[in-house]
Amino acid sequence: LITLIAALLLSYLTGAIPFGLLFGRMVGKDVRDEGSGNIGATNVNRVLGKKLGILTLLCDVAKGFFPVFVASILLPMGDNWELFVGLCGLAAVLGHMFSIYLGFKGGKGVATALGVFLFFSPWAICIALIIFIAVVGVSGFVSAGSLAAAGMIPFLILMLGGSFSTFFCAAVIAVLIWIKHSSNIARLRRGEEKSWKTKGAQ
Ligand code: G3P
Repeated sequence: LITLIAALLLSYLTGAIPFGLLFGRMVGKDVRDEGSGNIGATNVNRVLGKKLGILTLLCDVAKGFFPVFVASILLPMGDNWELFVGLCGLAAVLGHMFSIYLGFKGGKGVATALGVFLFFSPWAICIALIIFIAVVGVSGFVSAGSLAAAGMIPFLILMLGGSFSTFFCAAVIAVLIWIKHSSNIARLRRGEEKSWKTKGAQ
């Protein structure tokens, strides 16, 4: 039990590292004050450019992948192993969304969730990425691609032979991602969402 609690805590604290904000600070900008105000790679790309956007994406994916990877090694194999590792993934995503370093505010969790499910089901991630790219390509909105891919991922995991516990963690993460996108959903409905290329989207 102590190992599980320690793994959950470490996953949360790793997920909570706000890379986008830190990279912004390095160049003297607060990404929360510009664009969509989000600390994720989409807004870092919008506000700080492609290089830091890609770096933020990679770091945010890594902070989802490594906690579950390390937890999968540390946690003893047993009936609940997959559930416990999945909960560590959930803890990392919660860290990103409700960061202790940012007064429990944070990002929308897409890249960190990508890292988590890259560990559990790389094939599901491949298909989700194709869905994401197709939707962003057609609509021009990263948020629409994120919502479509997040909505599909629990079912893709199940269809590709994933366990019910992984499906459960994926479903919780997908619901959280949708909730975190509520301002994007409102803008999409009003026809006011800005393309990922547009500077200064609100
Ligand atoms: O992953 C976040 C993306 O779906 C939306 O980002 O900055 O346009 O709100 P943003």
